[in-house]
Amino acid sequence: MIEPQPCSRNSSSPQLSDPAPQGNHITVLREIAVESLRPREGSIYVDGTFGGGGHAQRLLAHDPPIGLVIAIDADLDAGPRARYLANRPGNSGRLRLYHRNFRDLASVVEEAAVPQVNGVLLDLGLSSFQLDQGERGFSFRHDAPLDMRFDQTGGITAADLVNTADVGDLARILWQFGEEKQSRRIASAIIREREKSPIRTTIELASLVQRIVGGGQRSRIHPATRTFQALRIAVNGELDALAEVMQAATGVLSPGGRLVVIAFHSLEDRIVKRFIEAESRTCVCPPDQPICTCDTIPRLVRVGKPIRPSKSELSLNPRSRSAIMRVAERLDLDGNLVH
Ligand SMILES: C[S@@+](CC[C@H](N)C(=O)[O-])C[C@H]1O[C@@H](n2cnc3c(N)ncnc32)[C@H](O)[C@@H]1O
Repeated sequence: MIEPQPCSRNSSSPQLSDPAPQGNHITVLREIAVESLRPREGSIYVDGTFGGGGHAQRLLAHDPPIGLVIAIDADLDAGPRARYLANRPGNSGRLRLYHRNFRDLASVVEEAAVPQVNGVLLDLGLSSFQLDQGERGFSFRHDAPLDMRFDQTGGITAADLVNTADVGDLARILWQFGEEKQSRRIASAIIREREKSPIRTTIELASLVQRIVGGGQRSRIHPATRTFQALRIAVNGELDALAEVMQAATGVLSPGGRLVVIAFHSLEDRIVKRFIEAESRTCVCPPDQPICTCDTIPRLVRVGKPIRPSKSELSLNPRSRSAIMRVAERLDLDGNLVH
């Protein structure tokens, strides 16, 4: 756990982006995501994607006051922002940050020595801090080493992947995680290029993809966008981590507790949707079986319809355009709603 330290900069501004020179992150669906957790006095919440702390800050400001936010982020850069927030008046002892992958949520909650939590929030993907920090290698708008790791303390970088994976694996990554129609052509071009010299930077990769895919003039998105998304997802094991964290969250939620997930592309959203559907099922017998014999007890129930940013949010924050939020509620051990 990263212990809150005295903040080195004394700012009176309520904006959490203050102490960090990393740029601006506008929290997506901030009010509705926090309200969907149904914050209650003294209750405990996990913010599995602390980032700039926008959701955590809103939770901590809730009236009546909640008890504790257990925050998780794989990125060490979340530390200063958490310390800043933890040192704001009224927040003392109410925020703990864990530098971990959220797939370890169950062990983080155990370490925090709480038996159960009242809500889990996941705001997936990367923050604008990370995207705008050129040296992290997430964006082809900055010339930087191809890194793309949320957690820079370990694991393989995008450059490692691009320079070592075989053509089949590369094509599969681009197809599965980027839905890139030209995955084979791009993968083959990467192999040819790296035989001459390794591909080390964002610009080298983006130019290569642009040469292969072409376009860019009439298309709304840069031709390398899908390739970059695919590599980032692969480097961080994002889809596996998402499936694991939702299992873990369901295990630690108290009955009546809420799971709130904000996804940013269809691959993530499909996993969230299918997970909630699977956990809400009351019967898993084959459809042609006349009588149910499975005694399945659902653990979750879907709450409302998926929520997207409003027009006013979109105009303030165009980066929120692909966000889609789903909410589920934990049932009790008999599969009943708790009020
Ligand atoms: C969209 S940002 C969250 C922004 C935050 N809700 C806010 O309002 O400032 C996502 C954050 O989750 C972190 N993250 C993504 N995947 C993660 C994972 N598997 N484990 C831990 N942190 C992760 C990223 O490092 C990033 O800081």
